[in-house]
Amino acid sequence: MTQELTLRTPDDWHLHLRDGAMLRAVLPSTAAHFARAIIMPNLVPPVVTGSDAAAYRTRIIAALPEGADFTPLMTLYLTEATDPADVAAAHASGLISAVKLYPAGATTNSASGVADFTRVQGVLEKMAEIGLPLCVHGEVTDPDIDIFDREAVFIDRVLDPLRKRVPGLKVVMEHITTSQGVEYVKANATDLAATITTHHLVINRNHILAGGIRPHYYCLPVAKREEHRVALRIAATSGDARFFLGTDSAPHTDPAKLQPCGCAGCFTAPNTMAILAHLFEQDGALDKLEAFASLNGPAFYGLPPNNSTLTLTKGSRDTPSHIDTQDGPVTVFDPGFVPGWHVSARSSC
Ligand code: DOR
Ligand code: ZN
Repeated sequence: MTQELTLRTPDDWHLHLRDGAMLRAVLPSTAAHFARAIIMPNLVPPVVTGSDAAAYRTRIIAALPEGADFTPLMTLYLTEATDPADVAAAHASGLISAVKLYPAGATTNSASGVADFTRVQGVLEKMAEIGLPLCVHGEVTDPDIDIFDREAVFIDRVLDPLRKRVPGLKVVMEHITTSQGVEYVKANATDLAATITTHHLVINRNHILAGGIRPHYYCLPVAKREEHRVALRIAATSGDARFFLGTDSAPHTDPAKLQPCGCAGCFTAPNTMAILAHLFEQDGALDKLEAFASLNGPAFYGLPPNNSTLTLTKGSRDTPSHIDTQDGPVTVFDPGFVPGWHVSARSSC
């Protein structure tokens, strides 16, 4: 039986690092296991211009632990006022790797997102022209649509028409949670991929709601029925190049999560790689973990895979249940089992 697994160092293609004290508290967990990450721009206020992204990037680099080998891949938050020329300049200088679309009101800090898609047509056309990917939070915000249906309805009502209006636009469906999301990606040969989170490979909606409400499992898009979790597992472990890891690790302090209207987000950065090794082994797909975590993402973004490596070794190790921040603890995602693997080494290139 395999006792040790060495991968090209993984990247995280969807990550929330926040800012200030929270950034300093959570960044070491990602920098320990990942060489690069696509950094979500939903700060308050959001990262909307090239100069916002440059300043945020500087703050991230300043918060890195001494000697860390980690590159933040910056994104801009798409608003109805986004200037195509600013996006193009930020891309041309190598500052940004993607633009993020939040439908207005869909999730945490999405109030500045897009309500009227006709107003972003020019930016999207520019992005298609220069080959800059659009990362999409794929949920409709219509209050009449049941929260468990919002991803599937988004694909039909918003995403598919948008892709037809902007041929050639590279789109990443972020954190897919449904079999409809998997099927939509599989039905489209080019210019479309999806990230899958660690937690959506582990939990279904029962984990959140059955036998008591578990706020630490509440995230957006919310976990769906078991059949959808199974579809995600099959996609992630298939080796199909259109599916890759985006943890959506989204730290909130316990006081922010444990209240009558708690925040959405699971903090998975510290134990993602151990959990993934456990899951891929369970599914007889350890040989596909490198594709999912380290190869498929760079290929879609047109970047080389990392030359350095990360080694996982069989055997469990304690993961801290939380990390401390000055505003309170941030609870680490509990997969409900003890991962049978741990990260044991990381080489530089
Ligand atoms: O669960 C989530 N948390 N989903 C998102 O889309 C946003 C994120 C956050 O920023 O907390
Ligand atoms: Zn996110």
